[in-house]
Amino acid sequence: MEPETSSVIIGSDHAAFALKETLKIFIEQKNIAVTDVGPHSADAVDYPDYAFLVAGAVSSGKYNRGILLCGTGLGMSMAANKFPRVRAALCNDLFSAIMSRRHNDANILVMGGRVIGDVLAKEIVSTWMETPFEGGRHQRRLDKFDDMGCPLNGLGIL
Ligand code: RB5
Repeated sequence: MEPETSSVIIGSDHAAFALKETLKIFIEQKNIAVTDVGPHSADAVDYPDYAFLVAGAVSSGKYNRGILLCGTGLGMSMAANKFPRVRAALCNDLFSAIMSRRHNDANILVMGGRVIGDVLAKEIVSTWMETPFEGGRHQRRLDKFDDMGCPLNGLGIL
């Protein structure tokens, strides 16, 4: 299958710096342009700073796909999902990666460099890049939370 995008924006923290460097080369070999927001060394950094750079670029529509990497993937996915129109999916296994595209139209892939190895991470990236969104009833469900203000509005809670 062919990748669904010709460019991707990527960022990490120190815990997944080595994985970022490995994946950059791997993705570029697929003729996909990679924009690396950093970090550019393995020195300790704060993962939200890099989550915000990648998620901001996807939220604004400048990039349609992003990749975020930290130790577990948890912090990056929490930070990225603060942004409107960002659907960041933590996928440390292939099944989640496939379903995050088919059902959730995930636009940011998040992985944990301390959880998975390089070989699995490459497989996940390839699969995630190539798997299309199924639309239909899944689009209706995304519409219920995507691009809206506070999801509690209108539920009689606020
Ligand atoms: C850094 O030590 C670690 O907390 C970070 O990479 C990430 O796993 C956070 O969710």
